[in-house]
Amino acid sequence: MSDDTFYLTTPIYYVNDVPHLGHAYTTVAADFICRFRRMQGRKVHFLTGTDEHGQKVLRTAEAKGMSPRQWTDQIVPRWTEVWKALDISNDDFIRTTEQRHEGPVQEFVQTLYDRGEIYAGVYKGLYCVGCEAFKVEDELVDGKCPLHGTEPEIVEEENYFFRLSNYADRLVDLYESDERFVMPESRRNEVLGKVRQGLDDLSISRVSFDWGIPLPWDEKHVIYVWIDALQNYITAIGYATDPERFDELWPADIHLVGKDILWFHSVIWPAMLMALDLPLPKTVFAHGYLQVGGEKMSKSKLTGISPHDLIGTFGSDGYRYYFIREVSFGQDGNFSWESMLDRYNADLANDFGNLASRVLSMINRYLEGRLPAPPQEAELTQAERDLIDAHAKSLSHMEAAIDKVLPHQAAKAAWFFVRKANAYVEEVAPWALAKEPAQRRRLEIALYMLADSLRLLALMTSPMIPRAAQELWRRLGLEGRVEDRTFVDEGGWGRLGAGTTVETGEALFPRLDPAS
Ligand code: MSP
Repeated sequence: MSDDTFYLTTPIYYVNDVPHLGHAYTTVAADFICRFRRMQGRKVHFLTGTDEHGQKVLRTAEAKGMSPRQWTDQIVPRWTEVWKALDISNDDFIRTTEQRHEGPVQEFVQTLYDRGEIYAGVYKGLYCVGCEAFKVEDELVDGKCPLHGTEPEIVEEENYFFRLSNYADRLVDLYESDERFVMPESRRNEVLGKVRQGLDDLSISRVSFDWGIPLPWDEKHVIYVWIDALQNYITAIGYATDPERFDELWPADIHLVGKDILWFHSVIWPAMLMALDLPLPKTVFAHGYLQVGGEKMSKSKLTGISPHDLIGTFGSDGYRYYFIREVSFGQDGNFSWESMLDRYNADLANDFGNLASRVLSMINRYLEGRLPAPPQEAELTQAERDLIDAHAKSLSHMEAAIDKVLPHQAAKAAWFFVRKANAYVEEVAPWALAKEPAQRRRLEIALYMLADSLRLLALMTSPMIPRAAQELWRRLGLEGRVEDRTFVDEGGWGRLGAGTTVETGEALFPRLDPAS
């Protein structure tokens, strides 16, 4: 893998239903990180997709009177359309029912089998179809799965097993020696503690249904859905089919996952890769769970809200910004309409939107809508120097936050500069300067600095609010797509051409009435 590539994955989503806010939470955060990395000049590969095999999807299809293939084919577009509505910039979308996935998965498990990593046995125990996972008594609360509130089913069948138990020591070494392998640290400690207690071998096939990928050496078995699903991260980039592409992109920089599926990603997945001597992903980052009114989100609890419901009111940018900024990544968060409205009005309509309209309309009013000549070094006062420093600080804090996979802190860092630019407006008071002809050049400098701040803000905020950033870019008379620019090439001051006409336009984020 070359240094400038950046490969990030989201989980692939079960298509037993349409997406809800929790699914979109993972994908929006992933998109922000990927867009930001692109603008740092990295060659990004952003993968998402759908997890289509297994009992959960099969039973849904049966309940709807469809074959699983019919069901998945008609529901997948419901997922891709939500990602489109949220301006998700994924480079690929993998479905586990695609041939490019199924063939390499069979090859992967066959190699494990040939290496003696898989053996036949009998599984007797509990299975939660909601989790698509085997359960032990300890994991249940009152005999029920705490995530799904249902009693797991008793399963007794002939299965093939993967020798997961052989990998406990190597995994412990991995967590201890590489503090970025599982993030955040609290999650790493959790996983470490559990794996230190030892691991059981893992059942990797099922015989009681056939909606899955057949085991190549024993076709009455289908591959356990998680073993199939995890491999999307390598099949989508050419494992077993395109070695050059695979070497260019693998290992992944980040597998972004929810805390509920950390075990599969931080224990089972690396063990499978170790068994085939394949490189391990660099980071598995587990974010927290999103709740509505303090309750786990699910359709059955009537809190399953569609992202479309919110996009209609807040727009894609408003949606993206809220979920990126509001929830401390890594911790559980709570969605409420009120807090979304507050964030939108305070940060987007007031801080960001007002800054843009004030600056553009002052340029219109005081300078006939045309940008003046940029200030010379000698013309800068302390106020301008402070603004320049604030921008440098804000961008470097954003970069550091993204390195730590903390999108909410990156958003906060960007708004530090938004607030600083607003404070600069108050400090230099262009409306007062405009009244004194002798202050004409000071007025020009102030408005140039502010227009340039808007340009820098369009760059910094484009990964979060791509639509508003693009519109701002256009109103400043800049060409092309801001998202195609990089912080390195465009991040300096003084890049706006003197004489360029700017456009005031409508509010970028019209204020929303709490009663609406
Ligand atoms: N299909 C598996 C993942 C396989 S990856 C090889 C799966 N799918 S899922 O659709 O159930 O969940 C996908 C992701 O959505 C997980 O990261 C999960 O944590 C996330 N979320 C689902 N509900 C969520 C919330 N309420 N809040 C935050 N994220 C949640 O698991």
